[in-house]
Formats: sequence, structure tokens, C-alpha cells
Amino acid sequence: MSVNIAIDGPAGAGKSTVSRALAKELGYLYVDTGAMYRAIAYYFVSREYPLTNESFAQNCKNAKVELHYENGEQRVLLNGTDVTSLIRSKEVTSAASLCSAVPEVREHLLALQQDLAARNDVVMDGRDIGTTILPHAQVKIFLTASPDRRAHRRCAELEEKGEKCSYDEILQQIIERDERDCSRKTSPLRQAEDAVLVDTSDMDIEMVVKTLIRIVEEKAAEQ
Ligand code: DC
Repeated sequence: MSVNIAIDGPAGAGKSTVSRALAKELGYLYVDTGAMYRAIAYYFVSREYPLTNESFAQNCKNAKVELHYENGEQRVLLNGTDVTSLIRSKEVTSAASLCSAVPEVREHLLALQQDLAARNDVVMDGRDIGTTILPHAQVKIFLTASPDRRAHRRCAELEEKGEKCSYDEILQQIIERDERDCSRKTSPLRQAEDAVLVDTSDMDIEMVVKTLIRIVEEKAAEQ
């Protein structure tokens, strides 16, 4: 049986960096499910389709998403084309938040996520991995940090890329995205009952990875 580690939490808590590092450390596959929603969002943005619930529900089936791995790095394919470098824009980020609230979109991606986890040892990150996608994951982590810390981290990331950053604007976006992700009817962001809460506000990446490795080891000793 494959080993599944589910990591959920809000945007900017450090999920992807930490999950990637943890997967590398354990020799597991890292599955970034947010990238799948982003690929669907890119499909709609690039075709200038309306970003409405009806449009997402009707057309999402035509967006075939696949994950490939090159030297251990995840690549996202949309209808056969690698869109990995195209899915991080502001426009796609905002459309991903909208499309991920639509039940048909979530249903469309569910089988792909569950299939990957059934066939591989994975560290899978997202919003509903521990609650809905992998309810039987051996280890569940809920990673969080204060909105202020998350906004500072996002600004630092943008500045590193040479992009301009307004702290107030980023903080507002984070608050709005949290609100949307937590209040939607289908698979809202929430901590699974059996997930371990890790607040990364005052931790650097190395500390978080060490904490997670300790949690994984403790869980393995219990099982
Ligand atoms: O983690 P991210 O920012 O790349 O995710 C993009 C969007 O997809 C974000 O609005 C949350 C949503 N998402 C989701 O609803 N469920 C997941 N399992 C992963 C991401």
C-alpha cells in the first residue's frame, strides 16, 4: 500500500516549499493540487471564456489536466501542452480561486488526485486533501500562519522576482482568498479532525521541514 501524506492550509503558509522539501527528503512524489486548479483556470482565461459557475461547470470537462515529472519536478499538462510556467499570473490565481469553488471542477480533478496517491507514495498539498481527497492518509498536516506573515512572505517572493509589491494589496488579496476558500459549499478549507496543526508564523522553512519529519516519524512509530 502506498504511503500518503496530506498537507492542507491557506495560501502563503509555505505548503508548496515545505511539501516539496519533505517529499525530496522521503523520496516521495510531490503533488501540488493547486497547480491542477490553476491549469483549469488558465484554460478559461486563455480562451477568454466567462469566469462564471455555469461556464466552469459546462466546459471544465474539455480541459484535460495531467501531471508529469521531470527530474522529480512536477510539470502540468493541459490538453497535452506544458503550461507550468503560465499558471502563476494574478489573473490565473484569481480565476483558480473562482473555479475551485465549482463542484463539477472539483469532481473532474478528484479521480486524478486519488489515482496518483493510490499508485505512488506522495506528499500531496492543497485545501481538502486530508478531508476529502485522501481521508485515509497515514499523515495529515494543517499548515497555517498569520495573514500578516503570509503577506510579508508573498511580498518578499515578488520582490525577489523583481516585481513590485504593495503589502496592503497583498494582505487584502490573502484575506479575500481565505474567505472564499473557507466559505465555499464544496470542500471548504478546514482542518481535518485527525490533522496535526503546525503554525509556521515564527518558523523558517528548515524548522518547518524538521517539524514535519518528526511528525511523520512519530506517526510511523504509532502504526
Ligand atoms: O495553492 P494554490 O494557490 O496554487 O491554489 C490555487 C487555488 O486552488 C486556490 O484558490 C485554492 C484552490 N485549491 C483548492 O480549492 N483545492 C486544492 N486542493 C488546491 C487548491
